[in-house]
Amino acid sequence: MSKQTILVTGGAGYIGSHACVELLQAGFNVVVVDNFSNSKPESLVRVQKITGQSPTLYQADIRDKQALSDIFAKENIDAVIHFAGLKAVGESCQQPLNYYHNNVYGTLVLLEAMEEANVKQLIFSSSATVYGESTCNQYAEDFALGAINPYGRSKQMIEDILRDVSAADKINQSTSPWKIVLLRYFNPIGAHESGMIGEDPNGIPNNLLPYVSQVAIGKLAQLSVWGNDYPTRDGTGVRDYIHVVDLVKGHIKAIAALKGEQFKTGACKAYNLGTGTGYSVLEIINTFEKVTGRPVNYKIAPRRAGDLAECFANPALALAELHWRAEKNLDDMLADAWRWQSNNPQGYE
Ligand code: NAD
Ligand code: WQD
Repeated sequence: MSKQTILVTGGAGYIGSHACVELLQAGFNVVVVDNFSNSKPESLVRVQKITGQSPTLYQADIRDKQALSDIFAKENIDAVIHFAGLKAVGESCQQPLNYYHNNVYGTLVLLEAMEEANVKQLIFSSSATVYGESTCNQYAEDFALGAINPYGRSKQMIEDILRDVSAADKINQSTSPWKIVLLRYFNPIGAHESGMIGEDPNGIPNNLLPYVSQVAIGKLAQLSVWGNDYPTRDGTGVRDYIHVVDLVKGHIKAIAALKGEQFKTGACKAYNLGTGTGYSVLEIINTFEKVTGRPVNYKIAPRRAGDLAECFANPALALAELHWRAEKNLDDMLADAWRWQSNNPQGYE
């Protein structure tokens, strides 16, 4: 069988670069489209160093229809993994139009280009942030949706669009139906075990792990733990942290599943990608100190607006239907995050 070619939008980013490594190592051809709005070409140089192979790179914005059409005309794309998007919750509240334009409109343009090229297999980066508040902290795919900020709503809108696109195939009795997987990520952390690629946030990080790493290396003075009065085992917020390499392996399983019975006549299905286990902020700090031998200077601060007390995945559906489960543990995630941070104190610069 000839090699499948995967178009990876946002392939130079944190998760996208790890996906490129796993795809190349699994024998796929990889084509990347990225506008480098939140990444650097160096990440793809590192992908080449790890794998000995290079993805084909197009520097373009997914909102540029002509650029996408040219890529589909030139490359023989079998399926698309769509990572490109803006992802900072706070920034999305300040710049909602920018977020909707980039994420929602960008996805519409991509879908139009895919339809015109008759490429109708898509894996989409969704997020656990699409879930509404629930009395149960372990989220399953059939829980009600109800994102609470523009970033989350952009993901929920895209999910709605993709479900509509798939439903239209049934009405139109399409002979080449869309096959779509929505992957709802919990909290991706860690880095490739080589320490050569990892998360390289612009400015002061919002997310816990890059903040912890930058305190440990001395770039930032002190971590604020946002609240220790939640109804959790130690009062701090509990999340389902998942190793980024496990996460991207879930995408490869999803590509395989598109060939199976579930998707034979077209479908749009959502799957959680999480470990099913939650850890508190204090557990993260303590384990990071144990694994790295580095102290993490922190203080308890007031709660951050919009945060849930506890949120972790029910990953049973991904196991049953994608045959995927996370394999790495918290020690692996934190050791790998630290290897990336300590080998690259200035990120890709
Ligand atoms: P990232 O910012 O590192 O990567 C996104 C990439 O997309 C960047 O390389 C950026 O330059 C590119 N990009 C953005 N807009 C573009 C556009 N219009 N055209 C072309 N390229 C564009 O983010 P990430 O952490 O790798 O996240 C990847 C995807 O996963 C995003 O869609 C994000 O919303 C989603 N996600 C991330 C997390 C997380 O915690 N990291 C959690 C859930 C979902
Ligand atoms: C984790 C825990 C904080 C920073 C966000 C997005 C979500 C998804 C993943 C994309 C919480 C605590 C954090 C700090 C802290 N992204 N914390 N001090 O909020 O679960 O999810 O990233 O889809 O949409 O909302 O992740 O890493 O910001 O926080 O105490 O400086 O760490 O309160 O309990 P979160 P996070």
